[in-house]
Amino acid sequence: MNITIIGCGYVGLVTAAGLAEFGHLVTAVDIDRIKIDLLNKGKIPIYEAGLKEIVKSNLAENRLVFTADQKKGIKNAQVIFIAVGTPPQKDGSADLSQVKAVAKEIAKNLDDYKVIVNKSTVPVGTGRLVQAIISENAVSGSDFDVVSNPEFLREGTALKDFLQPDRIVIGTQSLRGKTVMKAVYQKLERDKVPFVFTNLETAELIKYGSNAFLATKIAYINELARLCEKVNADVTIVAKGMGLDSRIGPKFLNVGPGYGGSCFPKDTKALVEIARPTGERLSIVEAVVAANESQKKLMFQKIKQAVGSLKGKTIAVLGLAFKADTDDIRESPAIPIVKRLLNAKAVVKVNDPKALTEAEKIFGNLVKYHDDIYETLEGTDAVVILTEWDIYRKLDLVKVKSLMNTPTLIDLRNIFTPNELRKVGFLYEGVGRGAIE
Ligand code: UDX
Repeated sequence: MNITIIGCGYVGLVTAAGLAEFGHLVTAVDIDRIKIDLLNKGKIPIYEAGLKEIVKSNLAENRLVFTADQKKGIKNAQVIFIAVGTPPQKDGSADLSQVKAVAKEIAKNLDDYKVIVNKSTVPVGTGRLVQAIISENAVSGSDFDVVSNPEFLREGTALKDFLQPDRIVIGTQSLRGKTVMKAVYQKLERDKVPFVFTNLETAELIKYGSNAFLATKIAYINELARLCEKVNADVTIVAKGMGLDSRIGPKFLNVGPGYGGSCFPKDTKALVEIARPTGERLSIVEAVVAANESQKKLMFQKIKQAVGSLKGKTIAVLGLAFKADTDDIRESPAIPIVKRLLNAKAVVKVNDPKALTEAEKIFGNLVKYHDDIYETLEGTDAVVILTEWDIYRKLDLVKVKSLMNTPTLIDLRNIFTPNELRKVGFLYEGVGRGAIE
């Protein structure tokens, strides 16, 4: 099939590469010409495991092409995926201006029947809005269907999530639209991936419902961790014991400094805003948003408690990305925590295997950047682990201790066991680890 993806951001790129890998002829469009030139040379502006290889091979086999010519992209396609940004506005609701602009452009170039697929995470009702914009702006009698097909891609494993998803959600009441979407994902139907066919609004809400639920799981275990510290319980074991119940499941019960990234913070706030005008209050999601904010503050308090006065102290921060295996620091809890350290007049040395370039855009010369982990630790009064990168788990702890002024380790991702660290002579602080084995 001839498929066009509009928007070569994170979701658009992975979708384009994945659909080309399924054997479709894919045109990926972006207004940023510099980005398009780089992509056509096989250079990828983001770090995502396996993406570069798959883009290169599909470029070489002519199944994938990048262009800044939106009009051409629209005209050639049987199916058009909208994968442009929907950034949060000041009140937390999603800014739909890019989606609306693309819908108008599609309308102007609609010649024969096309299926327009909303891939961007958009508020409930946006599918209908896109339908209305296209109807208003297209030549009367133009034939098209709008479909909602939300993505559930995790950064770091996005390609795998695209090629082997848990489910495919298709929102459309048009039989023709449904048939086209089945053809788009024929490979996955053959692989027995479950499909959920529903209307536009339900599909749109499945996306928000899923992300807010996962965020709730995290906020819940983080809250339980605070209680664990007070009652001499170990949250990692509590989570293990809970997770063995198949109704609960073990995933997304890892405590940490609060969830971050481009989705959970944005989508939880957007869901609250979606509900507001309907008169329904999503008090649980509101509480999750608030609990995640407090978590970041509490984690800073934890550092302060372990170190004492931070003024003039040198603190090593290991990990800035919002999670491991990505260079993304959007909404990373590391950002407010480092800012608070700086406000408290600490000297901050930072390390991250992938995110230093992004971090520099935020912290400029306010912190010291180190590619080498051990160099980061030299002469420090405490080390704070903020991202669960594997290389941190493999640190030579005796060497770490010898490099530091005082061996204080605040492990905000619980990557170590308290006893292991205490044996080496560290003052160790994890999250929710009241019990000493
Ligand atoms: C998420 C969803 O998982 C994905 O389905 C959706 O399409 C986009 O949003 P992503 O943002 O890549 O994906 O990250 P994810 O792996 O879900 O983690 C989000 C945040 O939660 C990270 O900050 C992570 O560190 C945190 N987290 C996750 C925890 O603190 N504990 C956990 O147990 C799991």
